[in-house]
Amino acid sequence: MTQYIIEGGNELEGEINSSGSKNASLPIIAASILSGKTTTLYNVPNIQDIKITLDILRILGCKIDRKNGKIIIDSGRMNKTEIPKELMHKLRSSVILAGAILGRFNKAIFSYPGGCDIGGRPIDLHIKSLKKLGINIEEEAGYIICSRDKIIGADIHLDFPSVGVTENLMLASVLAEGETTITNVAMEPEIIDLQRFLNRMGAKVSGAGENVIKIQGVKKLKNVSYNIMPDRIEIGTFLCMTAITGGNIIINNVNNEDIKSITSKLEETGVRVKQEKSSIEIMAPKKLKAIDIKTMPYPGFPTDMQSVFGAMLTVAKGTSLIVENIFENRFRYLNELKKMGAKVSIEGNVAIIKGVKKLHGAEMEAPDLRGGAAICTAALVAKGQSTVSNISHILRGYENFDKKLRKLNVQIKLGT
Ligand code: UD1
Repeated sequence: MTQYIIEGGNELEGEINSSGSKNASLPIIAASILSGKTTTLYNVPNIQDIKITLDILRILGCKIDRKNGKIIIDSGRMNKTEIPKELMHKLRSSVILAGAILGRFNKAIFSYPGGCDIGGRPIDLHIKSLKKLGINIEEEAGYIICSRDKIIGADIHLDFPSVGVTENLMLASVLAEGETTITNVAMEPEIIDLQRFLNRMGAKVSGAGENVIKIQGVKKLKNVSYNIMPDRIEIGTFLCMTAITGGNIIINNVNNEDIKSITSKLEETGVRVKQEKSSIEIMAPKKLKAIDIKTMPYPGFPTDMQSVFGAMLTVAKGTSLIVENIFENRFRYLNELKKMGAKVSIEGNVAIIKGVKKLHGAEMEAPDLRGGAAICTAALVAKGQSTVSNISHILRGYENFDKKLRKLNVQIKLGT
């Protein structure tokens, strides 16, 4: 099995470009199904989750051309409405495809999704909200069968501002008859990117970024070209990796508006950030200060950044408290960090991290995508060599992870 071998001790320095956002690309690729026409996407990251999504689209009958970050999806001959179980299991966000398939064909068959094992991750809210859109849902032999003669707009209130549920409902209602109003929606920047994409395609969606979204159904959509937004979680990861090493880097292709909750917490640790129109420079002190973090839906502090911040705080001065409010199983990386000498205790959804002076290299395993990145973050300052196995988790979500780190002065190589 492939692993990363990291030699700790170097300060991060240099300049990189961020990649396109994973979490924006996935629903936008799903949305390409709706038009039955050609969608050209730029800045799509070359990562495993995208590859699986495109494999599913091919099986459904779409024609796909891919070159570097450019993907052309022709959904004109798409003729299947069932997502194969084995692919559904490889990726949680495959559930988003259900909304898009339903939106186009008024029926969809899928099973329970997979993805990172970071908690229960049920799909009850997806099912409940699709039912509120008038869709009949039956379960048979592990499959979820959704259908309706014609989708008609409705008023839907979400119990929780789930990102995936908000996106699924937007996709299912774009071609519906009449207006759909969704309240208590997720306000993440990726939802705004999806709205922008849908409207370029000819849809009538408004309200993304606030807590009510309205979708006026349209009869047809058109060909579209679209540039995916930067990946704010990838950017945040490299900022924390620089902060822990006391380094200084510049990242280009950044929407600074989208990363305020990340930069404001970083500034509390003592780092300085300089933001230009579409870039960010970070200058880190020799020693970081401990801080407290509570994960919340956007614009709160993102759960996807919790692990990498947690790793960074293992060597900060003082004691940090982390409260994880979104996913219950997102502290497993901390048990790996203990192997490096981190002082951590976990009680339910609260982790207490007592900063230590030094970490030492160890053999560790990535427990999930962001947890894997967190372990690599700590390894950057550990004395000696660390190995991180199970890196398939990291490759699901970070494009050219080791290559970018090498460009930033990190000694990282692949091993077996
Ligand atoms: C998306 C992101 C993920 C991020 C998360 C929260 C993508 C592809 N993934 O995931 O990186 O960590 O938002 O910001 O965009 N829930 C239910 N029932 C449901 C759906 C969700 O109980 O039917 C719960 C989840 O278990 C979790 C919470 O709601 O506790 C938030 O999940 P949600 O916002 O739906 O996250 P995802 O869309 O899966």
